[in-house]
Amino acid sequence: MKISMGSDHRGFELKEKIKSLLTGKGHEIIDVGCTGTESVDYPDYAFPAAEMVATGEVERAIVICGTGIGMSIAANKVKGVRAALCSTIDDAVMTRRHNDSNVLALSGDRSNDPAVEEIVLQWIATPFDGGRHKRRIDKISEYERNR
Ligand code: RB5
Repeated sequence: MKISMGSDHRGFELKEKIKSLLTGKGHEIIDVGCTGTESVDYPDYAFPAAEMVATGEVERAIVICGTGIGMSIAANKVKGVRAALCSTIDDAVMTRRHNDSNVLALSGDRSNDPAVEEIVLQWIATPFDGGRHKRRIDKISEYERNR
């Protein structure tokens, strides 16, 4: 899968860890930065990573800041993006099954959580259930179109 990744300074180390995990599994990663642990502003990386999803350049994006909250707020401003902040494997599975989320937001502060790699792998592997969940996300898309 082609995946864009972005982080701020507090997400940088986890971005590097997830990038090598996914590259090792054959995914193609487009890293929009940041490039180190010097303080930067998370919207500067959330928007380019999420816009690549909106334009179809990549299928999914993963964005990481300290809490994951700022990244998810910013990514959700991009039309067509459904960003989900996940802190458990169940969050990751359910947001794919029910929300067809196309951006995963993670907390860099929780990078030592032993579940973090499995959160990412399950989020990538889990398909959308469709059905009544499609009707619900269609309502979100319609709201977005008519704003
Ligand atoms: C940066 O200090 C911090 O605000 C950012 O990483 C993130 O946690 C924001 O939601």
